[in-house]
Amino acid sequence: MGHNPDGVCAQRIRALLHTRALGRVLTVLDETASTNAELRARECAVHGETVIARRQTAGRGRLGRRFESPEGGLYLSVMLRGCAEPGQVTIRAAAAVHRAVLSVCALRCSIKWVNDLLLDGRKVCGILTEGVCSPQTGRLTGAVCGIGLNVGAVFEPPLDKTAGSLPAGVDKNALAAAVLCELERCLDEPFDAVLRYYRAHCPMAGQDVTVRPSGLPPYEARVEGIDDEGRLVVVRGGQRQALSSGEVSLHRED
Ligand code: BTN
Repeated sequence: MGHNPDGVCAQRIRALLHTRALGRVLTVLDETASTNAELRARECAVHGETVIARRQTAGRGRLGRRFESPEGGLYLSVMLRGCAEPGQVTIRAAAAVHRAVLSVCALRCSIKWVNDLLLDGRKVCGILTEGVCSPQTGRLTGAVCGIGLNVGAVFEPPLDKTAGSLPAGVDKNALAAAVLCELERCLDEPFDAVLRYYRAHCPMAGQDVTVRPSGLPPYEARVEGIDDEGRLVVVRGGQRQALSSGEVSLHRED
């Protein structure tokens, strides 16, 4: 432990865990390309198996983007087997990370649909859920939920307008354990209860946004809210649409 100035340590995380399954099989790596890729490659990974890396060399974001993952941040992925609704996992995970950051760091983030946590309007966390298929049958056998948190990172202009960080000095072992505990709780809870929490911390209703549907031209719309399936409901030219994926950017005045 003494040789590891970063402080992320499997033993310490285990000591703080009170989950049934999540994080019970836990690997902490100094470096990997992507914790999501690492876990997806483990065909026999059990429900709750978790990989944490101190840095990633090819961290993956949504929509094929790269997720910068330097030393200092917290990058973790969890294997979820037999979750009834894999499509709800990102919403449940965003609520879970929100709760974990609040309890460990005493910081109240806001959630930006669907998978980002913002602090003072800047993204501090991204979530990427990927389905896992059996190579033999091609059938869906689970989902890997990957969570990346910036900790103690300093961003140069112009990135500093949109990218933010939890403060240096955050106890990443406590944060990792809290994320796993809260994720287990949010996977157990009825979806409507999770959605109530999610909506309460996702202040997008009434905001003007640019919607960028994949492969189609962007358009402007106003957010009405989040429906009972976790879709973002937007109104465009009097027409209501429920979005289940794609990118949405907020029009901020700053
Ligand atoms: C996004 O913001 O688009 C999602 C970013 C998800 C990043 C996390 S870091 C841990 C896990 N491993 C990856 O390669 N990606 C996810």
